[in-house]
Amino acid sequence: MVETSDEWITERTGIKERRIAAADETAASMGAAAGAKALEAAGLKPDDIDTVICATTSSAYAFPSSACEIARLLGIRRAMAFDLAAACAGFSYAYSVAHSMILTGQSEKVLIVGSDLMARACDPTDRTTIILFGDGAGACVLGKSDTEGTIAVHASADPFSGELLSLPVPQRGQSDTPWLYMKGNEVFKRAVVVLAELVTKTLEKGGMSADDLDFLVPHQANLRIIAATARKLHLDMSQVIVTLDKQGNTSAASVPLALDEGVRSGRIKRGDVLLLESFGGGFTWGSALIRY
Ligand code: UT7
Repeated sequence: MVETSDEWITERTGIKERRIAAADETAASMGAAAGAKALEAAGLKPDDIDTVICATTSSAYAFPSSACEIARLLGIRRAMAFDLAAACAGFSYAYSVAHSMILTGQSEKVLIVGSDLMARACDPTDRTTIILFGDGAGACVLGKSDTEGTIAVHASADPFSGELLSLPVPQRGQSDTPWLYMKGNEVFKRAVVVLAELVTKTLEKGGMSADDLDFLVPHQANLRIIAATARKLHLDMSQVIVTLDKQGNTSAASVPLALDEGVRSGRIKRGDVLLLESFGGGFTWGSALIRY
């Protein structure tokens, strides 16, 4: 499709494969599939869920939201349901919101879904983006617990750098569909700096040090960014969950997909301390320090 090579992509990004959704898939249909697996893993029924949050910036409809559609597809009948747009940091933002809702007693069981179809948002002739993004969905259920839980969360945004990574929403009457735009090397440099500060701040907030961590579960944008964050924390790469070699950058889905991979592969065990982090368009970034 574009002038590139497997060698360039592998060396500069770490990506070997990506998953592309079928034409009839949507953020909601994929999110519902992920949500069903999360409910099963949590041993819960649809009516146990009182809030559904779908982190996405590729919803097929503004309304009904993907979260409402996911609730419909899963038979969740009495939950508050809404989408949350924070690009690649969407899951971390959703986690932060869900955590607050549980702390205040507004919710007891929140289904958090990250679902995005970014491959189809990339210009097929733009080699700087078309090689990076894949489609995917991941989900988890967050609930109250005395033994496990959230140690600290942090989320923030820099609203003055939005033009470096953007996805215009097509407007009525517009003839061309605008593509995703990314000034990759500028985003790269900023991501490395922000993520280093983010992980440090989150550990401080949680009263922990990097030595307490069992796993880093990072956003999967670029292996070099992930490795830089792991170095900052003095973590061995064996303590980092990496999925981008198989999935590419799946935006809001990448952290829950990595969490899923870590748990289902048996690497992440009950009681492990995990640091989830992500950075994306906006710029937005967020983290969660949790005892699984
Ligand atoms: O998930 C949301 C946040 N996103 C990110 O965190 C992504 C951050 N950015 C990145 O991961 C990297 O910046 C990229 C993988 C996108 C690009 O890697 P880079 O090492 O920063 O490359 P670059 O943009 O500085 O480009 C270096 C060269 C350029 O050629 P010249 O000007 O040096 O001749 C590009 O035109 O590589 C060229 N290039 C490519 N060559 C072959 C750019 N894309 C390609 C490609 N194949 N696909």
